[in-house]
Amino acid sequence: MVFALAAYRREEPAMPPPSSPAVRCQRIVKYYGTGDTRVVALRGIDLDVYKGELLMLVGPSGCGKTSLISVIAALLESDEGDCHLLGENIQRMELEARTVFRGRHVGFVFQAFNLLPTLSALDNVAVPLLIHGLPRSLAETKAGALLERVGLAGHAHLLPSQLSGGQQQRVAIARALVHEPDLVICDEPTSSLDHATGHSIMQLLRELARTQGRALIVVTHDPRILEFADRIAHMDDGRIVDVTRVPGTSHEI
Ligand SMILES: Nc1ncnc2c1ncn2[C@@H]1O[C@H](COP(=O)(O)OP(=O)(O)O)[C@@H](O)[C@H]1O
Ligand SMILES: [Mg+2]
Repeated sequence: MVFALAAYRREEPAMPPPSSPAVRCQRIVKYYGTGDTRVVALRGIDLDVYKGELLMLVGPSGCGKTSLISVIAALLESDEGDCHLLGENIQRMELEARTVFRGRHVGFVFQAFNLLPTLSALDNVAVPLLIHGLPRSLAETKAGALLERVGLAGHAHLLPSQLSGGQQQRVAIARALVHEPDLVICDEPTSSLDHATGHSIMQLLRELARTQGRALIVVTHDPRILEFADRIAHMDDGRIVDVTRVPGTSHEI
């Protein structure tokens, strides 16, 4: 019996190694200002985010959510600690190398959308591809397909000022996804969206994690979308105080 079991075990395919984290934050500390006016925004953050998972970051206003995702996206330098993205220590990279790395591997949806006001929705979404040197016709085809995915096929040629807040938010989401980044970070992606649109955007984001192995970090105040998370990291006063796995998610890391 023992031998049979041992033989059976040997024939089993090897377990795949646990996926290495797409993001590894170790002891991240971030200050703003100096002296008496110094604010400690992050007080030693340790966090791993895996390929294929959607991690939500929640917590009261001012607790450090935007600071943390800005450090992770290599938009903001931390004062202490290390952040590895796809195995690379981004804090140690030269500025130009970091910009190139971010452009290739990270898609970021800003809370304020940050669309370029003089470009159409289609051109806004095409920008990351044009920066990467794709021919304009191919960039526009891909941008158009993404706008269709977010329900804006008929709005491609409008300027941001001609779109509602919710529509601008969806353009910002399409722009963050169009170059197929390994890591997608969204700051309050459903804040301007009605319930049905918010759900369909979250379904799209979760599908990207599940079927394409991307890592997603979503900052939210919106309890209606928590069900889309695999894990929820709770922040308070510059710290991650708890990480919970959402019951009912079939996704295992
Ligand atoms: N550019 C800045 N200069 C000074 N203080 C800042 C700056 N950005 C954020 N802070 C402060 O850092 C803390 C964390 O802010 P933030 O990361 O924006 O939190 P959240 O996104 O959770 O609201 C807050 O006390 C905020 O006032
Ligand atoms: Mg914020």
